[in-house]
Amino acid sequence: MTTQRANYLYPALGLTLIMASIIFVVVLVPRWTFKPPEPRDLRDYTTQELRGREIYKREGCWYCHSMVSRPQDWDHGRRSKSSDYFYDAYHLLGSERTGPDLANIGGKFPDQYHMLHHKNPRYVKPGSIMPRYDYLTEQELTDLTAFLQSLGPYGTRALDVKDGKAKYAANGETKWAKVRDYTWVGGELNGLTEKVAMWKLDVAQQRALNEELYGEHLEVPFKYTAEIEELMYGSSHEAANAKGALQGLATPAFPNKEALEEARNADPDVRAWKENSFKEGEITDKNRLLANYGKGLFNNQCSPCHGVAGNGKGQAAFTMTKRPANFDEDKFATYTTDTWYWRISRGVPGTQMPRWEYTLDANQRLTLTAFLKYVAQNKGLGKLQGAESNYEKAPVPAAAPAK
Ligand code: HEC
Ligand code: HEC
Repeated sequence: MTTQRANYLYPALGLTLIMASIIFVVVLVPRWTFKPPEPRDLRDYTTQELRGREIYKREGCWYCHSMVSRPQDWDHGRRSKSSDYFYDAYHLLGSERTGPDLANIGGKFPDQYHMLHHKNPRYVKPGSIMPRYDYLTEQELTDLTAFLQSLGPYGTRALDVKDGKAKYAANGETKWAKVRDYTWVGGELNGLTEKVAMWKLDVAQQRALNEELYGEHLEVPFKYTAEIEELMYGSSHEAANAKGALQGLATPAFPNKEALEEARNADPDVRAWKENSFKEGEITDKNRLLANYGKGLFNNQCSPCHGVAGNGKGQAAFTMTKRPANFDEDKFATYTTDTWYWRISRGVPGTQMPRWEYTLDANQRLTLTAFLKYVAQNKGLGKLQGAESNYEKAPVPAAAPAK
């Protein structure tokens, strides 16, 4: 008598066939047939940008960021088209959007902002859940930034549709940048010469572009929810518990009041800030120097959001739900030293205004205070305009508060 045994051969063959046809349809056919048209508004990547692209792939940025702006995406910029991917050997579209879409990220932020954001996203966006990449070398961070800056209609790879290709062929000029031979000094690439994209807009042109972008984008009305208000400022048991959890958000009372008093008493000039006018014609020489020192810092750290002149229209401003403060507004002329120092140290909860006490020392925050007092009382840069910042040369105010 023969025993009947199940025969697995045919099901196995069938499954293999189904598997093979799926691979054929969704992997191989698109590979053979996807031939995007050559774009008229885009140049090829430079070797530096390709290195950055490899880092983007290696570090898994695409786990959290997509690179395709769809018609239904609000405020992700221009919709992506197939020719955008012409120079991509394989695409990095991504499917998960834990972070914002990056198809149009080029030109949205200054290079410095990206470097800082990559090292630690919390430096520029308190509460961000993006991991820190401070283990990357300076060169890797620079390459990654170059790659991001190359993307989208405001990126360094964008060409004018009409005569862009010709201009690029003639002298490496793209819409917003110039691709030049650049020899790296120091670091891993010391001595290597390669093509590197450099922004070509001068400050005035950048400002005009920012104004345009600023006007183009909607500002969302911004209000804390009642729950957040209660957690931040409330006195309930929950609020007390939440204070720790809301580290990046909560603004507890100014902790260094005594230290600041001490600093003020130690230095007569600092002591007199509250009474002293920072108005042009009345400001003391030392306070002018301090304000000038603060201007250098402000240019580096704050202008991407607040604008070079402190009018709130920096390059990154239009991307924000709550726009950066405009220091020309009347109310700022009445701010005291305490208020400025406290705001700069603690940031503004629920907005992208960082808590600078993490990254700037007390002296630096005091000179920023001087600069902002000057801007607020003179409604702009006044005579600080154009003057080179004495960032290195300026005296440091005596005995500033400890952290
Ligand atoms: C765990 C998910 C995650 C990973 C991995 C990640 N990001 Fe992000 N990213 C975010 C989130 C969330 C935001 C929004 C908050 C912020 O800006 O920090 C963001 C924001 C950004 C922004 C700002 C975009 C904008 O329009 O404001 C850039 C640029 C960026 N990420 C680049 C990168 C790069 C480059 C990498 C890889 C080196 C990376 N991200 C890896 C989650 C991630
Ligand atoms: C990433 C963008 C960003 C950067 C960088 C930034 N700010 Fe802000 N800042 C903001 C935003 C957004 C607000 C919130 C405006 C509001 O609440 O009306 C703000 C508000 C402020 C305020 C409070 C104004 C008020 O209403 O009391 C001060 C002071 C300030 N910033 C100073 C600075 C200084 C100084 C620096 C540099 C050391 C800096 N900011 C860098 C985005 C930024």
